[in-house]
Amino acid sequence: MLPHPPYRSLRGTTTAIVGATGAVGAELIRVLEDRDFPASSMKLLASARSAGTTLMYRGEPLVVEALSADSFVGCDLALFAADGETARTYAPHARAAGAIVIDNSSTFRLDLDCPLVIPELNLETLNGHRGVIANPNCTAIITCMGVAPLQRRFGLRRLQLSTYQAASGAGAPAMAELLASTEAYLRGEAFAPKALKHRYAFNLFSHDSQVDPASGYNDEEIKVMAETRRILGSSNLPVGVTSVRVPTLRAHAIAATVELDAPVAPAAIRECLADAPGVRVVDDREANHFPMPAEAEGQGDVLVGRIRRDLGDPSGRSVALFLAGDQLLKGAALNAVQIAEALLIA
Ligand code: A2P
Repeated sequence: MLPHPPYRSLRGTTTAIVGATGAVGAELIRVLEDRDFPASSMKLLASARSAGTTLMYRGEPLVVEALSADSFVGCDLALFAADGETARTYAPHARAAGAIVIDNSSTFRLDLDCPLVIPELNLETLNGHRGVIANPNCTAIITCMGVAPLQRRFGLRRLQLSTYQAASGAGAPAMAELLASTEAYLRGEAFAPKALKHRYAFNLFSHDSQVDPASGYNDEEIKVMAETRRILGSSNLPVGVTSVRVPTLRAHAIAATVELDAPVAPAAIRECLADAPGVRVVDDREANHFPMPAEAEGQGDVLVGRIRRDLGDPSGRSVALFLAGDQLLKGAALNAVQIAEALLIA
């Protein structure tokens, strides 16, 4: 018998965070502290613009360094929370230095050499990893946390999603823009958007990623469809998505219609989700209290509610759900740290 699961492969815990000054980077620092991750030392990396600034880690000031090819010497773990291009360029340097990479960008998510991991759902896919592990898209994570338990218990035929996505998914500048544009709007002042294309205050718009002119789907929707299929291990699963950016700061919400193999009573759906790790059922019909971004913010759990039969499906096989999850926590930093914890040699 093996002394520990094969994926437990993190030999030391000298840790680097790439993108430490960003929205996800800040949460990575907080989650590592909160969960008492046993990092023996910590290196904070960002672009040259931030070099020399100071961030706190475990009560100590740490100076942010400019990312370079040599940044990873001596590192065992590199948590990437920057853009895809930065991951593509620098993950190989981290690997060459012997670090295991956990990347938050979309760069490696469909690479079959790189496991796409949600620890509650598919930890076994870490077995035999080759040093680069992908953290899924935030919307894919929140969706799968609610849908995978139903798939496992009842069988899944089809998935239809409408997403209500927070500013944080577009990074710290978009969060700042939501605040600044709201303040300007309330003062009756003009505001020229910079981080996003459209007015964000008191508005919502189709997701700001690039739209494929042929299919009409944007990049975010394409990612969610492909990653959800990969995580659920169902390459032919019909999935449709409409992704919308809404003026919330850091928690996404998702309306999901889930077609199962056979009709299932809402009570059985509720029971199944109540047993699912990392999921909290918020489904109080009497009080009209269901998942909300405001209550998902700062929570590690994904909230699931509005559990009801979808009357739009005459077969009776479909259920409707509403989910909310903190995009920066379970949708990014928390999931990444949970992966790192799973890699620790016990
Ligand atoms: P910086 O703050 O120096 O620009 P967000 O998604 O919240 O915008 O954060 C992106 C993170 O990625 C920031 O920490 C940002 O650093 C970092 N980043 C962006 N481009 C690079 C780069 N070329 N090299 C290293 N870090 C980068």
